[in-house]
Amino acid sequence: MKEETTPPSNHPDHNAPAAPANSAGSLPNSRKVFVKTYGCQMNVYDSQRMADSLAAEGYVTTDTPDDADMVLLNTCHIREKASEKLYSALGRLREMKKQRHKNGREMIIGVAGCVAQAEGDEIVRRSPSVDLVVGPQTYHRLPQALAQVRQGQQVVDTEYAVEDKFEHLPAASRDRLSKRGVSAFLTVQEGCDKFCTFCVVPYTRGSEVSRSVTQIVNEAVRLVQAGVRELTLLGQNVNGWHGIGDDGREWGFGELLYRLAEIPDIARLRYTTSHPRDMDDVLINAHRDLDILMPYLHLPVQSGSDRILRAMNRKHKADDYIRLIERIRSARPDMALSGDFIVGFPGETDEDFEDTMRLVREVGYAQAYSFKYSPRPGTPGADLPAHVEEQVKDERLQRLQALLSEQQYAFQDSLVGTEMDVLLEKPGRLEGQMIGRSPWLIPVIIDKNPGEAGDMIRVRVTTTGTNSLVAEKCA
Ligand code: SAH
Ligand code: SF4
Ligand code: F3S
Repeated sequence: MKEETTPPSNHPDHNAPAAPANSAGSLPNSRKVFVKTYGCQMNVYDSQRMADSLAAEGYVTTDTPDDADMVLLNTCHIREKASEKLYSALGRLREMKKQRHKNGREMIIGVAGCVAQAEGDEIVRRSPSVDLVVGPQTYHRLPQALAQVRQGQQVVDTEYAVEDKFEHLPAASRDRLSKRGVSAFLTVQEGCDKFCTFCVVPYTRGSEVSRSVTQIVNEAVRLVQAGVRELTLLGQNVNGWHGIGDDGREWGFGELLYRLAEIPDIARLRYTTSHPRDMDDVLINAHRDLDILMPYLHLPVQSGSDRILRAMNRKHKADDYIRLIERIRSARPDMALSGDFIVGFPGETDEDFEDTMRLVREVGYAQAYSFKYSPRPGTPGADLPAHVEEQVKDERLQRLQALLSEQQYAFQDSLVGTEMDVLLEKPGRLEGQMIGRSPWLIPVIIDKNPGEAGDMIRVRVTTTGTNSLVAEKCA
């Protein structure tokens, strides 16, 4: 069974798109790299940065492994299924590489991302055809690793670097930045110190680090100058970001948003993923004050049972979350909520699960992701007693997903007949059609040449699709 509630465009365990292909206009004898991204948005961002850094080494990106001189798999370790995808992909690539060598051509195989960090040595042991392994904190050293591979070495570089990788990564060229499109990701924070007992992220991404205000503002300005209109700030705990502000004071994430909102021509700001414990008053007020901060918040709660929340080490109760949502909604009444849920955490009883269903009914989500608990080696949850049977997990997931889908469709239906601003992103399938985003991230389809990518237009919603809205441009 597919674990997500809906096919997500931007979430873990989803096969994210390969880094944007930009082979057009390449030099005839330049090398090609195919980057395959698994996992979350942070990996999508990292893939772009790795492709930027490989561009400086003469590689252009391609959207198929068939003609690639290098294949780089940017991996996810969050659930067992996500992790296993690496080994099946490597099996296929090994055969390709053999064939390629017979024809006298090179094919370098690289593994990056969270499985690389967690299982670096095991990867090269299980798959000797892998040439290099870099972790999420060491990928700025990719060019050096590549040079070593060319000298015949196999490289595993997953030692946490002492240096700041962002200071060492080459800035993307204007040409590459302009291919980011209308909406781009910008990582502002990495890693996690929260140690939820089910989660591998603190081990694969390391401890929490915030990028500096200067680095973030400079990157944002460059993206906007290259045509980006919507920025999604990323972090495993994005609202835990903190740093020294322009005024010399310690800023929290809310202050950073106020600062970014001053950049001319930014049309929209979003951020993900937040932890309920880091939603402070400044951030909530930013939602009240900043029109360009979109009224859509991904705020995972995981469970509605206090007993399970404690066992998960989430450090808040179900009621704290509900009160928090009330405060956020009173600051921004049109706020739509998204969340993550885990069913079948060890020890979860029918009663605990009913508490989750109750919380979902009380909050009302516009959209959400739900997963069966997947024990991850090395996390405390894996060693807990009373693991829940697979069949029970399946049943609970089905019930939860049915409720979440119902809420999603109810939210979409509630938008029919209303007017909203849509940021146009790309042409649709039909002639003259454009696809844009509503403030609540739902794609909106508009016919009759409503404008160009990057335009913000006013529309009226006429009907809903499965995961989209259909609208017409207001006169
Ligand atoms: N930093 C984010 C989430 C990162 S992982 C946060 O704290 O919310 C994304 C989601 O994957 C989590 O919210 C959780 O719902 C899910 N997840 C993480 N580990 C999991 C596991 N072992 N089994 C099932 N789902 C898991
Ligand atoms: Fe994982 Fe919890 Fe950290 Fe999110 S807050 S990344 S779920 S440990
Ligand atoms: Fe996966 Fe790593 Fe993201 S484990 S969800 S790619 S932080």
